Amino acid sequence: MNGTQTAVGFGTERREGREKVTGTARYAAEYDSPGRAHAWPVPAAVARGRVTAVDPAPALARPGVLVVLSHENAPRLAEPEDPTLAVLQAPRVPHRGWFVALVVAETPEAARAGAAAVRVTYEAEEPDVTLTESHPGLYVPEVANGGQPAVRSHGDPDGAFASAAVRVEAAYRVPPLHNHPMEPHASTARWDGDRLVVHTSSQGTTPVRSVLAAMFGVPEEGITVVAEHVGGGFGSKGTPRPDVVLAAMAARHTGRPVTVNLPRRLLPTVVGHRAPTLHQLRLGATEDGRLTSLVHEVATHTSRIKEFVEQAAVPARVMYAAPHSRTLHRVAPLDVPSPSWMRAPGEAPGMYALESAMDELACELGLDPVELRIRNEPDREPDSGRPFSSRHLVQCLREGARRFGWDGRDPRPGSRTAGPLLIGSGVAAATYPVMVAPSTAAVRALSDGTFLVRINATDIGTGARTVLAQIAADALGVPLERVGIEVGSSDLPAAPLAGGSSGTASWGWAVHAACARLADRLAGTAGPSPAPEIEERADTTGTADAESPFARHAFGAHFAEVMVDTVTGEVRVRRLLGVFAAGRILNPRTARSQLVGGMTMGLGMALTEGSTMDAAFGDFAESDLASYHVPAHADVLDVEAHWIDEDDDRLNPMGSKGIGEIGIVGTAAAIGNAVYHATGVRFRELPLTPDRVL
Ligand code: MOS
Repeated sequence: MNGTQTAVGFGTERREGREKVTGTARYAAEYDSPGRAHAWPVPAAVARGRVTAVDPAPALARPGVLVVLSHENAPRLAEPEDPTLAVLQAPRVPHRGWFVALVVAETPEAARAGAAAVRVTYEAEEPDVTLTESHPGLYVPEVANGGQPAVRSHGDPDGAFASAAVRVEAAYRVPPLHNHPMEPHASTARWDGDRLVVHTSSQGTTPVRSVLAAMFGVPEEGITVVAEHVGGGFGSKGTPRPDVVLAAMAARHTGRPVTVNLPRRLLPTVVGHRAPTLHQLRLGATEDGRLTSLVHEVATHTSRIKEFVEQAAVPARVMYAAPHSRTLHRVAPLDVPSPSWMRAPGEAPGMYALESAMDELACELGLDPVELRIRNEPDREPDSGRPFSSRHLVQCLREGARRFGWDGRDPRPGSRTAGPLLIGSGVAAATYPVMVAPSTAAVRALSDGTFLVRINATDIGTGARTVLAQIAADALGVPLERVGIEVGSSDLPAAPLAGGSSGTASWGWAVHAACARLADRLAGTAGPSPAPEIEERADTTGTADAESPFARHAFGAHFAEVMVDTVTGEVRVRRLLGVFAAGRILNPRTARSQLVGGMTMGLGMALTEGSTMDAAFGDFAESDLASYHVPAHADVLDVEAHWIDEDDDRLNPMGSKGIGEIGIVGTAAAIGNAVYHATGVRFRELPLTPDRVL
């Protein structure tokens, strides 16, 4: 490399790859220091009610137990904005699994045994945990997740549906789903007088610092929150979780460093989940397959303490031209854990329903499902009327069809068999919005001719360090090896979280701006290696968050081939192929890993992942990986991700759209549509487990 624009676009390996595969990368629970104690939470054993007494004596009698905290003796904290963080502050139990006590001990084992010994008594009430279409608690909220309006309506969707030549009316169900990142949520906290240092597994520590400062009443400057390596989050680490509050609380109470390392079986109830969604779809079309009416109505649940509304009808506002439409969300507060973000909240379940209904419509029309989508391609964003900054869905469909070998497919269901296997193929579209948030960044030219970029980005396993270094190298006009990068600490220039597929765009924008400014300054000096160190900073507030006159979304198309075993009912995905249009792909190696990862998670959503809210017990029945089945290697036979080079200068200086989430969007529909093609039976509830399929 010679200092020209060379870094972006190359499949550079992850900078921390060696540390990770050799086990030297440290995670939040692994920051040991002298005197460190370990804490284990006690989950509520009733689904609704209040704690009447906490008897710590049997726990305190056990070896190594230091203290038992509960609402009776825990430090009082300022009321957090997020009610799920108000732990051990009041006797109320809003759902089963809510933390009612915390045992601090010398070792994790002692803490765990202590937690089992604490005697908690409750005044229990009858819980209501079951979402139905007709639940009396359902109401239309003002906004759904992401600040999206809960309802949008154009024209006369009911009249247009009633008079449509061809109609599809169908209900789909997506069960609760759990994020289950590889590294469970964990935090290690240490107070040094009024200074607080926390290592936590988080998608962004700048906001964690703000929350802790407010709750513990200390200035932000007195708190350092580090997330150096993070083993995934999928949205569940996008906001602080109870572990970080409990660790800081226990450390303050005991005067010792404390680690709270949540056991996996506690995650489903305290780190958010994808809420179940009940979908009603009504599609009306002309004989030649043009949509006249599109109605997508969603019912979902939230907890008693926090309103979170999975915005599953929102993608229907983006996808297809239809003169009459209604998209609507209703939510019922139940005695359930608080739902939250899980990879492509809204789009993932919403596009399962919409893209399944589109397949049903194609069958009604006798029209190829690829062609049906092409026929309904809008020239502007249907809901807002704004032009798209770029939209290459049709190209993704065509390129996918070509690569997959779609042409010549016999559309008749059940037309392909191999012994006891039924074989089928299906297609579905994908979309995900382009989001971006303001960020700051700093870059310094060092006297040895290298550069150091500093930004509180978080690398949750995506390769953020690597791609930011690539962006910096290009903006500086220097070889990649000369760029060092520091991320993952709230002491670094403030940055937004790794979420909403917006990390690279948001951080990269600030890094690019700071580096371009430094390069300009250096251009006036003797060369790229000046003796005095100089630094430039950038803050994209006001530019990165400016309203765009354009609708900005990434698009994609999934093609799936499945085999359905008529003896066992098992569905296997033989091939999964996705083609995406997501702006400029900055690092093909890490990008492919994101897209394939998303598609694999979509495969899990289609076939194996599902959580059951036990009506009698009031809890998710599947709380570990032995019962909540994420895809294993043996489930993933052949997954390919491709993309179309998309040149869009209305995004950010890199021309990139997000890629972290779109891979999961539409995947389950493509697989479900393939199962219909294989069997001739339309299943409308996920996951497609053998008991349903047989
Ligand atoms: Mo993602 S669900 O925005 O972390």
